[in-house]
Order: sequence, then C-alpha cells, then structure tokens
Amino acid sequence: MTTKPVLSWLESNEPASLSRLIDWLKIPSISTDPAFKAETARAADWAADHLRQSGLRVEILPTGDPAGSGHPIVLAESDAAPDYAGPHVLFYGHYDVQPADPLELWDSPPFEPVIKPAAGPVGERIVARGAVDDKGQVASFLEALRAWKETTDQTAGGVRFTVLLEGEEESGSVNLDRFVRQNADRLGKCDVCVISDTGMLDRGKPAITYGVRGLAYTEVILHAADRDLHSGMWGGRGPNPISELVKVLAQLWDADRHVTIPNFYDGVRKITDAERAEWDALNFDQTAALKEIGLGPDADIGEAGFSPLEREWARPTAELNGIIGGYTGKGAKTVIPSHASAKVSFRLVDDQDPEKIAESFFEFCRKRTPPGCRWEFLNHGGGDPATVATDSPTLAAARSALKSAANGTEAALIKTGGSIPVAGMLKKELGLETIFMGFGLADDRVHSPNEKFELDCFRLGARAHVLLIDELRRMNSRS
Ligand code: BES
Ligand code: MN
Ligand code: MN
Repeated sequence: MTTKPVLSWLESNEPASLSRLIDWLKIPSISTDPAFKAETARAADWAADHLRQSGLRVEILPTGDPAGSGHPIVLAESDAAPDYAGPHVLFYGHYDVQPADPLELWDSPPFEPVIKPAAGPVGERIVARGAVDDKGQVASFLEALRAWKETTDQTAGGVRFTVLLEGEEESGSVNLDRFVRQNADRLGKCDVCVISDTGMLDRGKPAITYGVRGLAYTEVILHAADRDLHSGMWGGRGPNPISELVKVLAQLWDADRHVTIPNFYDGVRKITDAERAEWDALNFDQTAALKEIGLGPDADIGEAGFSPLEREWARPTAELNGIIGGYTGKGAKTVIPSHASAKVSFRLVDDQDPEKIAESFFEFCRKRTPPGCRWEFLNHGGGDPATVATDSPTLAAARSALKSAANGTEAALIKTGGSIPVAGMLKKELGLETIFMGFGLADDRVHSPNEKFELDCFRLGARAHVLLIDELRRMNSRS
C-alpha cells in the first residue's frame, strides 16, 4: 500500500489532533515541583489512554525508591505484523514540563493553550508550556500511530515499538537509570531508540541530531559567621561570604574563557576536520541568532579558538545558573550575610564524566576556601553526553522519511548543546544507539515564557513519523 491514505488522515483530522494536544497541554505536569505530583500523574494517564486507543498494550509503571515516590513511566508495546523484519524501535519522549515562571511574562496563561498567527508571513503556532518541549513533539508521534491504526486497522502499521514516556526529564531523570536497569531485559530487546525532543536547522529545514551534551549540576554554599552581621561593624573586619564566593567563582575561566578546573578537559574529543568542514558548510548565522535574542554582534563571546556552533555542539562549558545571598528585597539593607550560594552547572561532551567533573569542581573550591569560611557541596546530578552513530540503516530510514515529509528537502546532520540524559543511559546500559528526529525551532522559547510550537513543525513531525513507520515496515534487517 502507499502512505497516501495515512497522510491524508492526518490532514483531514488535524483539528481533532490539535484539540487532543491542547487537552494534554492544559495539564500542568511540572515534575520538579511536588505540588504538581497529581497533575503530573494525570498527564501520564492521558498519554496512556491515547496509546491504548491506537491499539498498544499500555502500562503505567511507578518509579522511585520507595516505589511511587517518583513520577510514573508510561510503557507501551505494539505487536509487530507477522512478516515484520525491521528493527524493534524504542520511542522515548517526556510528558513533564519545566515550571512556567515568571508568570507575568506570558502573554497568555501557560496552561491555557492558544493557537495564534505565527510571527512570520504564514502559519500558526500553539503557545503553552510544553508546546515544543516535549508534548507537542510526542503528540506528532502519537498522532502518527493513530493515523496508521485508523487507516489500516493495524497497530503502529505493524511495526514493533516499545514506547517509553518519562515524567522526570525536566528534573534530571533521577529515577530513570534504575528503571532502565530493572527493565533491562524488556528494553534490551529493542534495536534502536528514536527521540523527538530536539530542533531543526531552521524553518522548513529538517535535521537529525547526532549528539547531545551532558550535564553536571551542582550547588555550592559558602558559610562564614554563624549569623547575619551589621556591615558597618563587620565590613572590613571579617569575611563576607558573597564577596568571597564570587571571587572563587570568577576564577573558573581564564582570559580566553577556557575553564580552569584541573583535568576538566580530560577525555574531550577533538573536533575532526571533517566535522569542522560540515558544520562550516551549514553557514550558521550567529549575528542573526544574536539579533533574535536582542544582542549585537559584539556579544559573540565564548571559548577562544572555536566557532559558535563548535562552542555549542562540541565544547564543554561552566555556567552560573543562580547566585543567592544577602539582602535581595526592595530598598537597601546593610548586611553581611552568614552564607551565600551558587548553582553551578557544566555542559559536557564526550568523553567527560559528570560525576568526576562535579568532584573536580568541589576540589577546585576546596583549594580556594576563603579564610574563616566553610563549604557545603550539593550534587544535583545531570546526565552523560552522547554522540550517536550516523551510519545505521535506521538512521538512513529516518533521513528518507524526513526528506519525503519535507517534500524533498534533505535533512541536515546537526548536534545540539542541550542534554537528554536517556540517550547516554541507553548506550551505556543496553548498547542502544539513538536517533534524534526533532522538530523545534531556535525561536521556540524552550523553558521560557511564551513557549510555542509552529503548526507547520507539528505537521512535519506527524508526517515524518508516519513515513518513518512506513520505512521501518519495509526494512528487512535488524539494526
Ligand atoms: N528537550 C530538551 C533538550 C534540548 C534543548 C534539546 C534544546 C535540543 C535543544 C530537554 O527537555 C532539556 O531541557 N534537557 C535539560 C536536561 C537536564 C534537566 C538534565 C537541559 O538540557 O537542560
Ligand atoms: Mn525535552
Ligand atoms: Mn526541556
């Protein structure tokens, strides 16, 4: 059969598909905030129902230790057609979202999705927390499953899928590692993982992402006196933990913006000449990207000796994500606080190890302990970097599906600076490769107020997933 009826089902049922997505986006599944635990579970139930309606066997599995302390994982399976000879595909996505704050910067409430005209000359977009990250992208896959079921009465077009939807990606996937290990025999039967949680090169320019960075997320607290002090009496006479903390943190980079932590760059893979050439050929416009976020060309700063794309895709960084200390209310208060703290994270590349990096950073701080002060260190976890194979038959199938979905535009091979911890876990624990086939745009405001997903991108995603299923059914090798 041809895919024509399946693709036209998508077109004629689009209003219903969008209203389903809107229902899902209305559920505030903020995984990091315990106040939203019940809502997060409701978002899992919602996805489970959707998958069931498309004919898959679905389980909602508790996570955490004690069991149920984490957010549930939705695990669904489709039976393959008797003559199916393609790979067993693990589809991964996440149904949790980032917190929506600051609420006052949203033009419409984050959990009341609206469809609005796009900023450009054509099209529309859906605006809500989770629109592109990741409910909208997962929905493009769910609708493809539905389209196959509705038009052929065959679950997932006869392709063997295991679908894993996580509810803790945005809070560091803290229970996923254990889940993967405990379900290694089931997940290990899969041949390859497909994830739709990344971006495209640009509007109308589809891409496959072959690498994500890793992350080590820490917090350091510098303690001084056992109480807050009057800065008139104590200023100049004892340690101010805020001043001392920022002096230590400022030493994290040298004048060329290389990270100064000893052994930080151990294991970092060199960018090959071939990669350099391929990335240069993408003609990435850094000046335009800076302009989009309100900055001029002089803001093109970062580690010396590397291009902007190289810095995002293949170089590790140290970032301060928050500094807390002293008086932050209205007006003035002359105080020397008892302590000050900072959230410090590191984006990592192959083959850096997040645990080692966090430990080296703590050691860096210890060596610089300001007189009279004491450190407290917290490791908030993170994830391994992952670079995936670009030569597999499944990847070729995905590229071909993307190309037809985009009416002949070839998919680019790109990397991203973001992190998706599951990819590293699957590789390390099960030897699984991942294919990142994502549909976000650089201006989607991921994690920000007014997050959006262009309907054109949603459509492209749904079509690409329909066509990927078709490619898979026609494959005859397991890889
Ligand atoms: N979907 C993103 C990762 C991403 C962002 C890929 C931008 C491509 C472009 C994911 O949901 C995410 O936000 N990951 C976190 C991971 C962290 C919480 C462990 C990240 O990258 O900060
Ligand atoms: Mn995501
Ligand atoms: Mn995210």
